Amino acid sequence: MSYNLLKGKKGIIFGALDEKSIAWKTALRCFEEGAQIVLTNAPVALRMGEINKLAAACGSAPVIGADVTSMDDLKNLFEKSMEHFGGKIDFILHSIGMSLNVRKGKHYTEMNYEWNQKTLDISSMSLHKVLRTAWDMDALNESASVVALTYIAAQRVFPDYNEMADAKALLESVTRMFGYYYGVKKKVRVNTISQSPTRTTAGSGVKGFDGFINYAEKMSPLGNASGEDCANFCVVMFSDLTKMVTMQNLFHDGGFSFTGVTQAVIEQMTDAK
Ligand SMILES: NC(=O)c1ccc[n+]([C@@H]2O[C@H](COP(=O)([O-])OP(=O)(O)OC[C@H]3O[C@@H](n4cnc5c(N)ncnc54)[C@H](O)[C@@H]3O)[C@@H](O)[C@H]2O)c1
Repeated sequence: MSYNLLKGKKGIIFGALDEKSIAWKTALRCFEEGAQIVLTNAPVALRMGEINKLAAACGSAPVIGADVTSMDDLKNLFEKSMEHFGGKIDFILHSIGMSLNVRKGKHYTEMNYEWNQKTLDISSMSLHKVLRTAWDMDALNESASVVALTYIAAQRVFPDYNEMADAKALLESVTRMFGYYYGVKKKVRVNTISQSPTRTTAGSGVKGFDGFINYAEKMSPLGNASGEDCANFCVVMFSDLTKMVTMQNLFHDGGFSFTGVTQAVIEQMTDAK
């Protein structure tokens, strides 16, 4: 159902890889709610060609390649997006994560620091680069909304999340810091949404993901939030209904973050005796 919450708004969506991607689902919902969008991903991801299906479903949205670690690519992305929209931007979704140490099977205690630098650049400082580019080009409208996706491993230990725990902590810090400056300058809001485990390409890269997602399901009074649920929450955050929310880490996890234990987990532990 559409509520026209984003009627007339213009946004850039980073990170739609395939139909499972949270960014993919968010792009569809934003379009349904009346937004015009530009889609972007790393050139290597665009070569898969999947994103063209999404572009067609979003009213022939332009697809502009950008490696989020490259300031030149980001400048080109914002220039072309503003040209396409004929004006400035109202919302941005940063839905990007990549861990080289996880991908290459390196344990946290044996971290390769060069790979770690790249992980932090792609997964965390990229938000700074996106905001900095927008700032320098004055590319955002007043009260624009920027959302980045994160995970609770930034606050609590989930061992197999590896270096991404540090990456998400840094991402959340950039959100607060840049959120402060952009709020003062132009009432721009910057927030993170801390999402339940979700079956996507990035999500499934975490070791033991099946156990992980089932545990979270049992530990959440509402169950795990799906990618579709997350897309709905992003729409609300991009809308004018949340104009005074900024610099927050917003848990979107069915109550997992504040639950000590559930009956379902107690029963499972009792059976395990
Ligand atoms: N899936 C989960 O369980 C889960 C839970 C909480 C938070 N998140 C976060 O949600 C976000 C989206 O992930 P997803 O689960 O939809 O997986 P996904 O694999 O579909 O999306 C990750 C995206 O990052 C893009 N990317 C990687 N390197 C890039 C680069 N250099 N430049 C530009 N783009 C690049 C990929 O191409 C891909 O589109 C990530 O930040 C992830 O950490 C996911």
